[in-house]
This record gives sequence, C-alpha cells and structure tokens, in this order.
Amino acid sequence: MSTPHISAKKSEIAPVVLMPGDPLRAKTIADTYLDNVIQFNTVRNMFGYTGTYKGKAISVMGSGMGMASIGIYSYELFKMYEVDTIIRIGSCGAYTDELDLYDVILATESYSESTYASVQSGTDQPAVLTPSERLNASLETAADALNIPLKKGRIHSSDVFYRATENHHDTLYKEHGVIAVEMESYALFHNANVLNKHAACLLTVSDSLVTHEATTPEERQNAFTQMMEVALSQAV
Ligand code: HPA
Repeated sequence: MSTPHISAKKSEIAPVVLMPGDPLRAKTIADTYLDNVIQFNTVRNMFGYTGTYKGKAISVMGSGMGMASIGIYSYELFKMYEVDTIIRIGSCGAYTDELDLYDVILATESYSESTYASVQSGTDQPAVLTPSERLNASLETAADALNIPLKKGRIHSSDVFYRATENHHDTLYKEHGVIAVEMESYALFHNANVLNKHAACLLTVSDSLVTHEATTPEERQNAFTQMMEVALSQAV
C-alpha cells in the first residue's frame, strides 16, 4: 500500500514510531541503535526505518519541520498505517534561564497560536493540547530507571521561526507559562487526540532565546543520546 507521502507495506511499520525532524537523523538512529533494519520510506527523502531495539520492534522516521509537515506524516502513520504511538524527539529553544542547554524536556502540554487543530477539525479547538498521559507516565518511569533527569513543562509550538520582534519569548513565558519553543508538538498531539492514538514529545534544549547561547552539533550529541534512550524504552 502507499499514501501520498509514504510508500511502505503496512507490516513494515512498527506500532511505535520515533520522529526526529531531520530524516538523516532518522537514518543515524536506525544505524546506531537498531538491529535488523529495513528502510520503509524514501518518498521526498523523508526516510523511515524499522528495526529492533533489545529484540523489540520500533520504527523511526523524519517528520520534517513545522506543523504542516508533521501533521501530514503523523496523520498518515496513525490513520493509514495504524500506528499506535508517535514520540517526537526534537530540539527546542529555552524561554527561561531556569533551563540549561542540553536539558531533556518532556512536554506536559503544548500551547500554540496555530490554526492547525481548528482547521483540521472544522471546529474551535483549544490553544493548549495534551500528550498521552499513559505514554508520558511510561517515559517518566523509563527516565527514572535510566537515571536520566527529565524537566517537565508546557511547550510553545510555534508556526514561525524568524519573528520580527526579539522579546516575544518573555511575553509568551509570562502569559502562557511556556518554557521552551519548538514547531511540531501541537499538530502531533491534535492528530493523536482526534484519532484516539498516543503521542508524546521529548526535546533537548539546543539554544536559549534568553542567553543566546547555542550548542554545536557535537555538543548536542550527548544530550541527544540521553533523550534517545528514554524514547527507545517504548519499543514493543
Ligand atoms: N525556535 C523554534 N524552534 C526551535 C528553536 C527555536 O528557537 N530551537 C529549536 N527548535
């Protein structure tokens, strides 16, 4: 079978899919962590792989950047490929100096100004959406067992990376309680909620809008490895 954006047999995709933004990161994850890997998608170079982690099946596929992109891929995976769980594994920019670079964050809520949810559903939808409670609890348990500290909080899911104003992060932090920004979780959570599926979002802090510090690709690797271990614990 295939959908407009994924060409794979249903049996080639596991019930749990990890989604980094970058399809080449999906390849690196498959090469580094998984055994018995098959590639299930090459359409638009949005690579997807399935393999085993500690003997259990798991898939990993790029989501692209932004809600329009993850909205398409997560919808097709949930609805057409009957995927049960999608865990976004991404990076974020800190809105508060209480977050340090490399911190690993588990999103407890996603706030957005985006019309994605309302346009998708044809009705007014809340500006704050939640991930799967069960999945978040399972990720927390895994992080505890691995001794990996998780920071939890409400995330800002933004449609815009380059804003005209410079201090918007301060207003958003104060008015909406959002601790960091990324660009995909709101659409992912909405799709999971309307399709009765499970979604979660793990992030590492890659830059700070407060201090303007930024990580280098090499530095990101260690924090990324910790986040990966937590996410991979959900292989089934
Ligand atoms: N803005 C939006 N998304 C991001 C950022 C950012 O500063 N950093 C990592 N993902």
